[in-house]
Amino acid sequence: MKFKRTLVTSALPYANGPVHIGHLAGVYVPADIYVRYLRLRGEEVLFVGGSDEHGVPVTIRARQEGITVQDVVDRYHNLIKNSFGEFGISFDVYSRTTSPIHHQFASDYFRHLYDNGKFIQQTTEQFYDPETQEFLTDRNIKGECPRCHAQGAYGDQCEKCGATLSPDELINPYNAVNGNPLTKKSTTHWYLPLDQYQQWLENWILENHKEWRPNVYGQCKSWLDGGLKPRAVTRDLNWGIPVPVEGADGKVLYVWFDAPIGYISNTKELCDANPDKYGKWETWWKDRDTRLVHFIGKDNIVFHCIVFPTMLKAHGDYILPDNVPSNEFLNLEGDKISTSRNWAVWLNEYLVDFPGKQDVLRYVLTANAPETKDNDFTWSDFQARNNNELVAIYGNFVNRALVLTQKYFDGKVPAMGSLNDYDKATIEEFKNVKEGLEDLLNNFRFRDAQKEAMNLARIGNKYLADSEPWKLAKTDMTRTATILNLALQIAANLSIAFEPFLPFSSQKLRKMLALDHADWSQLGSTSLLAEGQALGEVSLLFEKIEDEAIQKQLDRLARIKAENEQKAKEEEMKNWHPAEIKAATSIDDFDKMDIRVATVLDCQPVKKSERLLQFRLDDGMGGRTILSGIAQSYPDPSVLIGKQVLFIANFPPRKMMGIESQGMILSAVNADGKLVVTTVSAAVKNGCSVG
Ligand code: MF3
Ligand code: ZN
Repeated sequence: MKFKRTLVTSALPYANGPVHIGHLAGVYVPADIYVRYLRLRGEEVLFVGGSDEHGVPVTIRARQEGITVQDVVDRYHNLIKNSFGEFGISFDVYSRTTSPIHHQFASDYFRHLYDNGKFIQQTTEQFYDPETQEFLTDRNIKGECPRCHAQGAYGDQCEKCGATLSPDELINPYNAVNGNPLTKKSTTHWYLPLDQYQQWLENWILENHKEWRPNVYGQCKSWLDGGLKPRAVTRDLNWGIPVPVEGADGKVLYVWFDAPIGYISNTKELCDANPDKYGKWETWWKDRDTRLVHFIGKDNIVFHCIVFPTMLKAHGDYILPDNVPSNEFLNLEGDKISTSRNWAVWLNEYLVDFPGKQDVLRYVLTANAPETKDNDFTWSDFQARNNNELVAIYGNFVNRALVLTQKYFDGKVPAMGSLNDYDKATIEEFKNVKEGLEDLLNNFRFRDAQKEAMNLARIGNKYLADSEPWKLAKTDMTRTATILNLALQIAANLSIAFEPFLPFSSQKLRKMLALDHADWSQLGSTSLLAEGQALGEVSLLFEKIEDEAIQKQLDRLARIKAENEQKAKEEEMKNWHPAEIKAATSIDDFDKMDIRVATVLDCQPVKKSERLLQFRLDDGMGGRTILSGIAQSYPDPSVLIGKQVLFIANFPPRKMMGIESQGMILSAVNADGKLVVTTVSAAVKNGCSVG
């Protein structure tokens, strides 16, 4: 089917924190590449984005920071919007779900479905805090784990034993925010009966969209195979869009109901304000000649392939997505990116550390795009790709062509003379790039497409290296002119081929070449630059990134890792509970132990052992040596000198690391695993018994 226009959406990021490289790699860079490509081809296209400002995450962030929810979403909406702008993500509209237009639109959308009997209504018992008079979400409920009996398990999961839970299973559930005990209260919600659309979805996806990416198709299939159930589209919450139905006080639309409608309301906002430029919003959403494409991350697949299409279908007038090119996840230095653990490279911080290097990050993220499986971002790869690819191949080629033209032809495009076989073969080779690129871009294979663009730079680099115009310049200016003309034409082609991927560099390159615009149809042409045309000022397209800059990033991550480990320890200390009491014993068993008091005369680490400390004790009986495996807990063992300690005096002597140990010093094991030597509360004679 041939479409007349393309509407591209990218997932609306939650306005509960800044955006990071995972967002960029997974959603926004691929969407932007695609849109820029279509625009270059002169196609009619609209790129819609915005911030997702409802839901529980923003309310949690507000509580953490002690500010209002509106303050949170204002702050992050602006920060995110700004970051996208800086990275050249070329949205036609970037709005927000707190906008009045969106509130009205989403509310009307719900009401339309409601009036047409598209929802079912169900009443269930939910946890309720009688004091604050609010219903609680799973994550805001804590209690004792029914499996391992740890305290502080969440309503959806016990972090101690890893069990998946439902809030109903928790023993003594309480409000995670204020500790209040909870009761149950019945509440009514509206559900989208996905089960009624099962057949239709199976046909639409599994039969008619076999071309979707295997990861997307596979996830849909497994949801469908599991059998769809009705999904609640309202919540008991005080942040969001009020449910526009009589008697629904205190209820709002579920965030996953209103957010995708944001794609539509943002389109409407744009079109209503600029009807001459963008036409009617309905053309983009209701005309069968419009092709709808959603760019998302893999955690969004079910919402964009099953829930939102069902909402569109239930409404009746809307088109459905033609494709949903979802990516997998990007990791950072081997670990999952996490906003709460600060394990991320934040775009706003990147720009402070690497000003002007937006394209470098775009390049590296596309080169490692998690298109078919999770992928890893590492700083050493970032440096290598910049230095060995952008600088050494692309930048080097362009720079050589321009500098040689300045040197031998006064910065003017030299004349193309007759071509030899090598010239012709080179032209043939780079003419093929266009078709290859198109095939890949049309199929959302951006990673390979960028490789193909880089190939064009390789062709140019090789052409110059093989033809050596700097040598010919001494003997044959006509030939030199031809070679440089062709090299400059290749450079001009590069500015087109890379435009979707590296927009800033392409623009810079066009300026150096004195080209005023790029047009995809010209890709492969050898007459982009006219003979005699004066070139612009020459500067470096890319710069080498030094080791120090990379080390700084690695140091930052190491610091964050250490902080996180510290926090995890503190958390563990907080959630710690004493071990079970051992099986019963007797005074006779205890009496067999000869426990005594001694003063530490000396305490030293044992050479070549990470674990052992060597104690010299005054035991009131001539002294003894004891080895104890507590070195990790006492980085400075001299703090123990002079202390009175408890030890078992009647263990048989034992040799360790060539030293005889005559007994055992008693230590307490703290919640974090650290050992603390026991002592007496007042001075006693060395050698006296404990019992
Ligand atoms: N805010 C969601 C997330 O970050 C994405 C919402 S996409 C939309 O996972 F379709 F709902 F807008
Ligand atoms: Zn547990």
